[in-house]
Amino acid sequence: RLSAPNRPVAVFIGMPGAGKTRIGTEVAHLLGLGFVDSDEQIEKREHESIPSIFATRGEPEFRRIENEVVEDLLGSFEGILSLGGGSPMHEGTRAALERYVQDGGTIVYLRADPEEAMVRSQHGGNRPLLAHDARTRWMNLYKQRDPVYSRIATVIVATRGKTPAKAAKAVMEGM
Ligand code: S3P
Repeated sequence: RLSAPNRPVAVFIGMPGAGKTRIGTEVAHLLGLGFVDSDEQIEKREHESIPSIFATRGEPEFRRIENEVVEDLLGSFEGILSLGGGSPMHEGTRAALERYVQDGGTIVYLRADPEEAMVRSQHGGNRPLLAHDARTRWMNLYKQRDPVYSRIATVIVATRGKTPAKAAKAVMEGM
């Protein structure tokens, strides 16, 4: 083998509050790998917060930027990558994720318990889609997204009742 493939070791997807960042960081730590979150990369690149991008430029423009950032990372970053919850719903991003899996990549879907995830997703400040009617919004998004997440994932871990350490262990057993 001349060189390792330039791609993430695993990509985490799932709803806001599922624990992608918390559990992804834990898995990266256990494997001695770097960790990157697509939302953070977008904020760095744009010099603007996620809520501000949504407010001033709108969701379609956010998804376009997110698509560029995610495709860049899928072709270059060799650690654990966590994606914003909505990213697999964008056609181009989803196609890039499907190619990544065809090339042997690992996509981990953290399937959250709605009650647990909704409580956690209230704590983050970068979630403009959940600002109003959080509960109904979360459930509607979940219904649209769960089939897509499930279809593209190579590993599915239900996080209900699991500590981050336990969930990380379950992820690694599935990888
Ligand atoms: C979004 C989730 C957020 C962020 C943006 C949109 C979504 O990321 O990308 O607010 O559509 O679910 P998290 O999943 O990390 O909360």
